[in-house]
Amino acid sequence: MNQATAPGKIILFGEHAVVYGRPAIAVPLTQVRATATLSPNSTAFQVIAHDLGQQYLLTEAATDNPIAVAVNETLRQLGHPVAPSVNLGLQSTIPLGRGLGSGAAISTAIVRVLAQFYQTDLTPAEISAIVYEVEKLHHGTPSGIDNTVIAFEQPVYFIKGRGVQRMTVKKSLTFVIGDTGVIASTREVVAALRQRWQTAPDRYEGYFDEVGRLAQHAKMIIEQGLVGAAALGKLMNENHELLTDMGVSSPELDKLVLAAGDAGAWGAKLSGAGGGGNMIALVEPAQAEQVAQALRAAGAIETIITTVR
Ligand code: PMV
Repeated sequence: MNQATAPGKIILFGEHAVVYGRPAIAVPLTQVRATATLSPNSTAFQVIAHDLGQQYLLTEAATDNPIAVAVNETLRQLGHPVAPSVNLGLQSTIPLGRGLGSGAAISTAIVRVLAQFYQTDLTPAEISAIVYEVEKLHHGTPSGIDNTVIAFEQPVYFIKGRGVQRMTVKKSLTFVIGDTGVIASTREVVAALRQRWQTAPDRYEGYFDEVGRLAQHAKMIIEQGLVGAAALGKLMNENHELLTDMGVSSPELDKLVLAAGDAGAWGAKLSGAGGGGNMIALVEPAQAEQVAQALRAAGAIETIITTVR
């Protein structure tokens, strides 16, 4: 039997603007993971998606089924175009559709387990490139940040179309993640923003420029660790305000962001596509539990405390 996993992710700065060429920062979220398992099957390649309660033959999957695309694309890249007779079991603790990278993590786990099965080493860049092909189905016009941070499993400073820059985190950062419980489609939020951008390009380019500057500034703070978390938190608040101006936040997200600030977080913002999904708050480790409680009291259905090193 072969097994491989992949983490979730959070975007610290720059979502959406990253689609338009500005820099963004993302980190892996290792507490939650997607797992892909291969076990023998005597006749065919069968997909068993445990969380979805689905079981089907690869040959019967729709052509735009992301799992089938991940499998077929990987087999093609590995030089084994004919699918082996195996069961591909899929399981994930990453909440679906909440901006934590569930789709990219499942795809990454699939690529890794198939590479393992064929005893082939794929580099993170090669894995990321395959997952990017699948991300196009989820996102429409993905920047590539999700597949990059998840395949590299490291903090990254990402600019679309450029090589990945791995980031070092000088002083560890503790975040509380709050889940609004609202499922939002990244594809729809991204497409709606694109329409608004088309009707008022100057205004939106201005927002994207400002967000890009925040990401650049945040990179310096994170890598050099010279100024404290308060400065980084302020940048997160500014990033959230810009995301609100762009129209990708939601009342539930805004409520959690405010609650985090009131409970003593250094700063907070939505993370991922928005419209629902998750927000993140930067906190002192000693305050993490208190902020998590405040988020739950303000409507978060789940909270995760994570430290980025
Ligand atoms: O997968 P999500 O929901 O975290 O969104 C990814 C971030 C976006 O910037 C909104 C889209 C993209 O392709 O970068």
